[in-house]
Amino acid sequence: MMADSPPGQLTWVNPRRAEALTLLNMLIGVPKEIKVHEYRVGLTPESVRELVARGHRVMVEKSAGEGIGASDGDYRTAGASIASTPDEVFAAAELIVKVKEPLAAERARLRPGQALFTYLHLAPDPDQVRDLLASGATAIAYETVTSPTGRLPLLAPMSEVAGRMAIQVAAHYLERPSGGRGVLISGAAGIAPARVVVLGAGVVGSNAARIAAAMGAEVVMLSRSPAPLQRLQAELGPRLRAFVYSPGDIDRELREADAVIGSAMVTGGLAPKLVTRAMLSTMKKGAVLVDVSIDQGGCFETSRPTTHADPVYSVEGILHYCVANMPGAVPRTSTYALNRATLPFVQDLAQRGVLEALRTNAGLRDGLNVCRGKLTRREVAEALGYAYTEAGEALAT
Ligand SMILES: NC(=O)c1ccc[n+]([C@@H]2O[C@H](COP(=O)([O-])OP(=O)(O)OC[C@H]3O[C@@H](n4cnc5c(N)ncnc54)[C@H](O)[C@@H]3O)[C@@H](O)[C@H]2O)c1
Repeated sequence: MMADSPPGQLTWVNPRRAEALTLLNMLIGVPKEIKVHEYRVGLTPESVRELVARGHRVMVEKSAGEGIGASDGDYRTAGASIASTPDEVFAAAELIVKVKEPLAAERARLRPGQALFTYLHLAPDPDQVRDLLASGATAIAYETVTSPTGRLPLLAPMSEVAGRMAIQVAAHYLERPSGGRGVLISGAAGIAPARVVVLGAGVVGSNAARIAAAMGAEVVMLSRSPAPLQRLQAELGPRLRAFVYSPGDIDRELREADAVIGSAMVTGGLAPKLVTRAMLSTMKKGAVLVDVSIDQGGCFETSRPTTHADPVYSVEGILHYCVANMPGAVPRTSTYALNRATLPFVQDLAQRGVLEALRTNAGLRDGLNVCRGKLTRREVAEALGYAYTEAGEALAT
């Protein structure tokens, strides 16, 4: 039963316990993504329906769901209002839910008192950090939100997708017409398969190794710690050669590699550079590097971000694929996988208010990168030379 409430709040009176809980009624905005060939969307119509059922209002930019096959009519039926411009969404919404980091035009629309919930990847992006700090808004990064077990629940679904895609991409660019050395991942009867070297044994690395092994590749995985390797070795058996690497091991493995998948990452910080320019000269011409960690600066020295419009370039005869939004190419799979993970956090932010949710939900607070003009992620502050403010302190006032 809803009691009379001031605007922006609902008071839910539990008839059994005769107590009143004050729940916020938030206006959530979903702009259309504008990064090149980014087809995902922050909320599916199904997610909108759930938020509206809890008393929130959702404003979706016209045709934001086009990439996943969701029409404006689908969003209206779910209870959203449709805005004809991004300006309308950013001007009205208290909480903006997106997928990719805000580009300059979007950052210019952010304002104090507003919260942004999306991927940010700030460590390699000084312009974004400057603009987010200047905006006065509160920015929560999907990729650094943690679970009670210390995992990264909002990064994992897209890492699963990107890890799997990395092998599809490598297979495509190994083909001669795509510029590669003309090797079929699986090989053929009596002909050796491709050798795929995976650097890093997290979510991306494990998913890449699984798909490469399933396609018949010879898979080599190099990691810093033994635990994830043991699990994967037990799963994949002799199709995987996995070891904790020492200096010199990467050079040796690169020489025999047809494809290399870069997936090493330090949460919220810059990716470690594991492959130098000098190492490329020892590799087979037409080999393919897929730097999935490019969103955190990349783990090959010669990596620079590319887009789905122009995904590869060559250095020393080695193809580099460095698309920073790989899952954007499979938006139906990705948006639904992402929303399954993000929706409970969006509900928490909307239900209790952004600052209260951040104060009391430790996993969500780990996602706080920028808070009302303060930088609250230590790795970003260190990478870019900014002063760091602890999240709890930034939220205290
Ligand atoms: N390009 C894209 O579209 C895309 C999509 C999804 C994820 N990503 C990125 O992929 C990267 C990996 O994500 P994840 O979910 O697998 O992370 P994860 O935390 O699950 O795994 C990262 C792994 O890197 C390892 N590592 C760290 N330093 C290392 C080093 N010096 N040598 C070897 N291994 C090292 C860690 O031990 C960990 O196992 C992240 O940068 C993520 O943002 C990119």
